[in-house]
Amino acid sequence: MIKAAMFDTKPYDRESFEKVKGRDVDITYFDTKLDPKTVELARGFDTVIVFVNDELSKEVIDKLNEYGVKLIALRCAGFNNVDVRAAYKKIHVVRVPAYSPEAVAEHAMAMLLTSVRRIHKAYNRTREFNFSINGLVGFNLHDKTVGIVGMGKIGKAFAKICLGFGMHVIAYDKYPSEVPGVEFLSQDEVLRQSDIVSLHCPLTEDNHHMLNKDSIGHMKKGVVIINTSRGGLIDAEDLLEGIKSRRIGAACLDVYEEESDLFFDDRSGHILQDDILARLLSMPNVILTSHQAFLTREALEAIADTTLSNIQGFFAGEDVLPNEVCYKCEKVAECKGAGRKKCF
Ligand code: NAI
Repeated sequence: MIKAAMFDTKPYDRESFEKVKGRDVDITYFDTKLDPKTVELARGFDTVIVFVNDELSKEVIDKLNEYGVKLIALRCAGFNNVDVRAAYKKIHVVRVPAYSPEAVAEHAMAMLLTSVRRIHKAYNRTREFNFSINGLVGFNLHDKTVGIVGMGKIGKAFAKICLGFGMHVIAYDKYPSEVPGVEFLSQDEVLRQSDIVSLHCPLTEDNHHMLNKDSIGHMKKGVVIINTSRGGLIDAEDLLEGIKSRRIGAACLDVYEEESDLFFDDRSGHILQDDILARLLSMPNVILTSHQAFLTREALEAIADTTLSNIQGFFAGEDVLPNEVCYKCEKVAECKGAGRKKCF
């Protein structure tokens, strides 16, 4: 039996993993996040199952290695929270590259529609029997230009939805490809021409704070920004300034750079110490959800299924680990992986 420790477990995680259990993996569920203070809990386990806000720093990875943990199994797609350089040749890292791109793309559209049609305002008003529609004027999405940064699985799913709304879709991707109905442009052009900008690229060393004072300054007045990708793509202080100066018309955020100590927990009884977040939340044109874009039944089942298959495949000694990632993977020529063999 493979012994797995799951960190940052929520009731919906336990439910979905229990449903697909029975594959030689014995899971112990921990509510706490994995970080230097809690890593001791991983002693005696073969693998750790982790999520977006668990901390897989060099310090934590070295401890896991010392305890004999052989595999870090991410139950998410992004792996910016893992020091993949520190893990190289010590612990293999696997992820769930795709579980439901539509879940995230649909959430991005849900937030966009909520924002531009003021549904969040109307919902609160009618619950108080306030049936006034003053101040709720929105705008049509039809014929507007949406700029997508990162045309991967989620970006493509979002593009399809936007095309269905009769929008013009332009995109920037580091590795552009052919996507029907989508025009690929430089990142600067996409930011300059778009009425709505939606971020769907991973957070890497080179695009940290790609939306900042300078880039926001070149965007259309009244632009709507959607971020369902990673908080670190946006400088939150500059976003706030952009909203105050009315350069930014609205922001729909499912992620926030400093989310790790806040998101996924009930903090309603606490005094929020993050002044930038508090100010953003006070804005009528900011909608924030706490990293829930993935949260559909379909996505949770797919996450549990792929995570357990990744673990089984690794411990069965399979030579090919299709969902492995390492720091060399981006330059395919340098990585042994890319679906052919294990990364090391
Ligand atoms: P993907 O790997 O299919 O696509 C990412 C695309 O971004 C690729 O086409 C890649 O070439 C491009 N890219 C890489 N670096 C770039 C850069 N610097 N500028 C522009 N494009 C760049 O990934 P997928 O599945 O579409 O996910 C995208 C991101 O969405 C993930 O990295 C993750 O951060 C986020 N995500 C958020 C979720 C949520 O619940 N809010 C759930 C799942 C993913």
